[in-house]
Amino acid sequence: MLRVVTHVKPLVDRSLYGALDVSIWSKSIQFNKCAFTTSAFRLNDQSATAGVQSEDTINVCGKDYAKDEWTNVTPNILSKTSRKLHLHPSHPISIIRQRIENHFATFKPLNKFEPTVTTKMNFDDLCIPADHPTRVKSDNYYINATNMLRAHTSAHQLQGLESGATKFLISGDVYRRDEIDSSHYPVFHQMEGLQYFDMGPKITAKQVQDDIASQAELAANTVQLVDDTLIKPENPIQDRHAPEAAQAVVAHLKHSLNSMVRALFKDEPNLQVRWIDAYFPFTSPSWEMEIFYQGEWLEICGCGIVRQDLMDAAGKPACSINMDPPSLHNTNALLLKKGLQNKIGWAFGCGLERLSMVLFDIPDIRLFWSEDERFLSQFAAGEIVKFKPFSKFPPCLKDISFWLPEKEWNENNFCEIVRGVAGDIVENVTKIDDFTHPKTQKRSVCYRITYRSMDRNVTNEEINAIQEKVRSTVEEDLSVQLR
Ligand code: PHE
Repeated sequence: MLRVVTHVKPLVDRSLYGALDVSIWSKSIQFNKCAFTTSAFRLNDQSATAGVQSEDTINVCGKDYAKDEWTNVTPNILSKTSRKLHLHPSHPISIIRQRIENHFATFKPLNKFEPTVTTKMNFDDLCIPADHPTRVKSDNYYINATNMLRAHTSAHQLQGLESGATKFLISGDVYRRDEIDSSHYPVFHQMEGLQYFDMGPKITAKQVQDDIASQAELAANTVQLVDDTLIKPENPIQDRHAPEAAQAVVAHLKHSLNSMVRALFKDEPNLQVRWIDAYFPFTSPSWEMEIFYQGEWLEICGCGIVRQDLMDAAGKPACSINMDPPSLHNTNALLLKKGLQNKIGWAFGCGLERLSMVLFDIPDIRLFWSEDERFLSQFAAGEIVKFKPFSKFPPCLKDISFWLPEKEWNENNFCEIVRGVAGDIVENVTKIDDFTHPKTQKRSVCYRITYRSMDRNVTNEEINAIQEKVRSTVEEDLSVQLR
């Protein structure tokens, strides 16, 4: 899979463990400057109504934005912004959201933020440097140079802090350009949690102990939890934190997430869960939680102690966050004007599809977007039931091979074209060949595209037409030479 190199060395080489996925912040694979493509704008007619396009402006979630050379959102992606799966009470994503909200019953839930955010909210406010590779166009959906579809719910952390709540949860749809397979989809859902305490070694430790004591008993211990992470220089406590205070908050964070996982998975026999070190620009120390599922370690959650710069910024005019929805304005928020310098907190972000796939046995991430009654009617608010596959239609495989252009090549741009042309009929895109000609040094790649609809049979004729369109668009937009 393609991810970007960060300036920080990953703490753990996850490839050793065969992890299916890791966060966008710490994975070190490959960093290509992307070739911008506008092709998908004209490809997928069925969804063209979602973001009304004109030459110069684009309408996203009811607001017009000026287009510029950063604009790379597509009608197909924009059509997802109105779905709000996390708010449909009987949808699996919403059922998991509600379970987590029930678990953290004293947290304030914030579920109505629109997915459109400024790049400042998604990156700068979270201490992500201007030249950080996670900002690349090929990994994100930009509306224009200063606005985008959020890549994570952390983009609303400051808004949460400004709501005046000392503990809150934020859920929403997040958008990332990515590869294509059964566990990756360019839109998924996250749940962010944040809680903070008064700073000062003694007060923090006391508050943390009291808070843990006040929580309900842990759920039955069917989950095997492994945590051999230690605080170390590569994943340090922040200078501004007294070690005792930070240790107490770390203990609270780990307790909170362990008990959440135990409660969520109480009916799953022998589930293995582990903690590993991680890196995020907006937390230190940082960790990820993974679960062992179908033979692979699956990242479900990133977390850590919130950077004190972020706490300092909360409520300060400089962070100039637009408070949306307006109901967030309250007297507590006004009291925040001085920032939260004397508070210390933890934060986490969990992927809801990952949790749902395990809990509901949903084998393909595209199913969450299905509007087929055979899928939707299987679920009811508050209930976790195993999904019963209603049919498996035969796949149709097509290969495409081409010589890469000399300069720019980025696999995400290729996947984006395939999605733009084929929509949800594309199930998987896998590179099956990659060689460099010994004499000319030209590189040739071959991808196998698996087409399969989840609700009907596809005809070979239909797929041939789609494949032809993929071929011509790739040739035109990515300057490859078809073979
Ligand atoms: N926003 C991070 C991600 O999407 C997860 C995270 C949230 C990490 C909060 C730390 C604290 O990968």
